[in-house]
Amino acid sequence: MKSQLFFVLLPLFLLLPSSAIRFDIQNNCSYTLWPAVLPYGGGRHLDSGQTWTLDFADGPRLARIWARTNCSFDSSGRGSCLTGDCAGQLNCTSYGTPPLSKAEYGLNNFAHMDYYDISLIDGFNVPLEMTPTTNGCSKSIRCSADVVGQCPADLRAPGGCQNPCTVYKTPEYCCRAGRCLPTDKSRFFKALCAEAFTYPEDDPTSTFTCPEGTNYRVVFCP
Ligand SMILES: *[C@@H]1O[C@H](CO)[C@@H](O)[C@H](O)[C@H]1NC(C)=O
Ligand SMILES: *[C@@H]1O[C@H](CO)[C@@H](O)[C@H](O)[C@H]1NC(C)=O
Ligand SMILES: *[C@@H]1O[C@H](CO)[C@@H](O)[C@H](O)[C@H]1NC(C)=O
Repeated sequence: MKSQLFFVLLPLFLLLPSSAIRFDIQNNCSYTLWPAVLPYGGGRHLDSGQTWTLDFADGPRLARIWARTNCSFDSSGRGSCLTGDCAGQLNCTSYGTPPLSKAEYGLNNFAHMDYYDISLIDGFNVPLEMTPTTNGCSKSIRCSADVVGQCPADLRAPGGCQNPCTVYKTPEYCCRAGRCLPTDKSRFFKALCAEAFTYPEDDPTSTFTCPEGTNYRVVFCP
């Protein structure tokens, strides 16, 4: 009896996508964006009001989603962007150049949880919001303050607000080893976007979880 049930249920179980997920990336800005998703997805042109839907049969282990601004590309997909540029490619295969604000997603297969956050570790270019849309998960995180307008003079960059590590390259700001603490610069970002990652060990207030296999919506200019 038991083994019969096993053979009936096993094929059903194998057919269920254990962690298929969808990202809906929406451009709610009044201007064109060129969003990018890595390591899978690449990058594309997205007009104001458009949504880019990406389906992953197996949820990626990690994903980073950001927007590029003021881009121009030739017909072969080569060109450049003012912010977030990925080595001059329209369809990104490498991470973008700061400043850029990003949404991040991580899958922990072992604990069967998704982790998601908004990170300002690479600075800020476009306001954004990340929202889980399935699995009963609904905690939206958002960074929509006028970070560029209020950016301190030393961090100002064309089209964005630069991260202090890129500007100063010091261990205090880059924090590649040892214990990381908030800095005067990370506090500037935190004051405007309390739910965002603002220095490398900013986890407790900035990482959120959902059950594995949740879908997400990322809205630029929420
Ligand atoms: C962009 O690259 C991704 C892989 O990273 C690929 O799946 C996709 O088809 C490419 N898009 C275009 C328009 O070439
Ligand atoms: C970037 O694009 C925005 C929106 O189209 C525009 O207002 C702005 O002037 C552009 N910035 C530069 C430096 O080209
Ligand atoms: C898009 O932006 C408008 C304001 O410009 C806002 O009212 C609306 O809620 C935004 N939509 C989303 C999905 O965030």
